[in-house]
Amino acid sequence: MLIVMFNQNVTMAWVTMASTPVALVVAGFVMKKAGVAVNRQQDDIGNLNGYINEQVTAQKVIITNGLQKDSIKGFLKHNQTVRKSAMSGLIWSGVLNPLMQGMSLLNTAIVIFFGSWFALNGTLSTGAALALVVVFVNYAQQYYQPIMSLTSLYGMIQLAITGARRVDEVRRQPDEIAPKNGKSLTGIKKELQIDDVRFSYLPGKEILHGVSISVHKGEMVALVGPTGSGKTTVMNLLNRFYDVDSGSITVDGVDIREFDLQSLRKNVGIVLQDPQLFSGTIADNIRYGDPSASMNRVIDAAKQANIHEFITSLPDGYKTQVSDEQSVFSAGQKQLMSIARTILTNPQLLILDEATSNVDTVTEANIQAAMDRVIQGRTSFVIAHRLKTILNADKIVVLKDGQIIEQGNHQALLEKNGFYAGLYKDQMVTN
Ligand SMILES: Nc1ncnc2c1ncn2[C@@H]1O[C@H](COP(=O)(O)OP(=O)(O)O)[C@@H](O)[C@H]1O
Ligand SMILES: [Mg+2]
Repeated sequence: MLIVMFNQNVTMAWVTMASTPVALVVAGFVMKKAGVAVNRQQDDIGNLNGYINEQVTAQKVIITNGLQKDSIKGFLKHNQTVRKSAMSGLIWSGVLNPLMQGMSLLNTAIVIFFGSWFALNGTLSTGAALALVVVFVNYAQQYYQPIMSLTSLYGMIQLAITGARRVDEVRRQPDEIAPKNGKSLTGIKKELQIDDVRFSYLPGKEILHGVSISVHKGEMVALVGPTGSGKTTVMNLLNRFYDVDSGSITVDGVDIREFDLQSLRKNVGIVLQDPQLFSGTIADNIRYGDPSASMNRVIDAAKQANIHEFITSLPDGYKTQVSDEQSVFSAGQKQLMSIARTILTNPQLLILDEATSNVDTVTEANIQAAMDRVIQGRTSFVIAHRLKTILNADKIVVLKDGQIIEQGNHQALLEKNGFYAGLYKDQMVTN
C-alpha cells in the first residue's frame, strides 16, 4: 500500500500516514492497560479456583463448624473480585478495536479534507483532484486494514499471552537435580547408610542435626519419636524428595545422588499415612506401579496384603470401580490396597510412614500381619506411633528434635530405661 501510495502522489501519501504515530501511541497505551487487566483477571480466576478447591475438600470441617455461610461469603468475595477484574480486562481489550476504527475514520476525514483542499488550491484540474481523493480514501482504509484485523482479535491474543506467561512460570521451576547417565541401582547388596545428615527445608531452620543410621540388607529399622521430630523428613531424604544439606546417604558405599533417579525410586516403595486411590478398578489401583502386571500378580499382592478376601467379597471383585459412590472404602481397606500396590512393585527398600495410625485395632492387626509378610527379606524403614507394631524391629531409632537420642533393639532400649522405655510404659497403660 505504501509503495502504491508514494508512486501515485507523495504529498497525499504523507497525509494518509500522518495519523499513524497517534494511532500507535493510543494502541500502545490501551494494550498496556489491557495486558495488566487481563493478567490480574487470570490471577483472580486462579485464586477463585483455589478457594473453591479448598472449600470443597474441607466441606466436612466447614459443616461441623457451621461455617457454611462464611464459606459462601468468601466465595462471593472472590467472585466479585473476578467480576471486577474480568470487567476491566474485557473493557480494555474490547475498546481497542472500536478506537482503531475511530482512528481509521478520522484518518479518512483527514485525507478527504486535505484532498479537497488540494483540489481547490492546487494545480490539478477538479476532475483529477476528485479522482485522487476517491482513490486515496480507498487507500487510507486499506492502509488501516491490518491494524483493524489485529485489534479485533486483541482480546484473544492478550489471553493467549497471559496463558503463555503462566505456562512459562511453571516451566521455569528448577528441575530435580538428577545425574546424567547416573548409575542404575539394582538393589541393596550389603547396607544402606545415613551418615551425619543435616537438613533444612528452609534456609537457617535446620530440622535434622547430624543423623546417622546404618541398616544391613534385610533389616527392619523402626523410627519412633514425638510428632515433628523429623521422622517423615528422614523418609523424604531416602527417596530424594529433598537432598541433604551435608552428610550423605549411601547404598553399598555409593551416594544416592549418583544413582539414576528413576532406578532409585523404582527400588524404594513407600506406603504413606494417607492412602491414595485413583479412579479405575481395584485391580488397576493395585497394578498402578506396574500397569503391565498380570492378574495373578495382582491377586498375589492382594493376598500378601491381607485384602484378597475382602476384595472377592465385593459383588464386582477386582473389577469394582473405586470412584463409584457405591464403593466407599474405609481408611484401613484403602491402606491395605495401597500396601498391595507397593508389594506388587517388589521394592528393595520399603518405607512405611505411620501406615497404621488411623485405623482400628482389628485392621491394625491385619495391616501388621501384612506388613510383617512384606517386610520379610526386605530392607525396611517403619515409622510407627504404636510401639506394638515395631517390637521385633532389628533396630529402633528414637528421634527427638531432629537428633537421635537412643538406638538399639526393644530389649536393649527397655533396659536402658530412657525415653523409649518411658514411651513404651505409657502405651502399655493406655492400650
Ligand atoms: N515441607 C516442609 N517445609 C518446611 N518445614 C517442614 C516441612 N515438612 C516438615 N517440616 C518441619 O520439619 C519438622 C519435622 O517434620 P516431620 O519430619 O514431618 O516430623 P514427624 O514425621 O516426625 O512428625 C517439623 O518441625 C515440621 O514443621
Ligand atoms: Mg510424619
